[in-house]
Amino acid sequence: MKKISFMILISMLTTSLFAKSGKTVFETYCWGCHHQTAVAFGPSFEYIASKRSAEEIRAMITNPKEVSKIFEYKRNAMPSFQLSENNLTAITNYILSFKKEQK
Ligand code: HEC
Repeated sequence: MKKISFMILISMLTTSLFAKSGKTVFETYCWGCHHQTAVAFGPSFEYIASKRSAEEIRAMITNPKEVSKIFEYKRNAMPSFQLSENNLTAITNYILSFKKEQK
């Protein structure tokens, strides 16, 4: 029993060490087309956070061809990304962190 919880602890430590932060994922994959607060080639994260749920953002990243239609874009210019579960969660949380307080 002790051995198992030790192994779980080690695997938690290593995934958090090797997982990229949301900001790093953004700088690695998304920066060319998206900006946090300004419109670039794609919409800003602030805009996305104000309109979409975490599920919608995840779906768009993994399947933009279909989801861009659901979002009513006339064309799909965003490529799809096969990110690890950790990186997908990190970038989704990063995007949602730009949601402005509703006043
Ligand atoms: C080659 C340019 C390009 C890259 C790289 C790119 N995007 Fe996009 N993204 C777009 C464009 C353009 C759109 C608008 C829809 C379309 O044309 O597919 C978009 C749309 C989106 C949307 C939906 C916008 C809405 O209406 O809610 C999300 C979410 C998104 N991008 C996230 C990301 C994330 C996260 C990354 C990095 C992992 C990324 N994008 C990388 C160009 C890009």
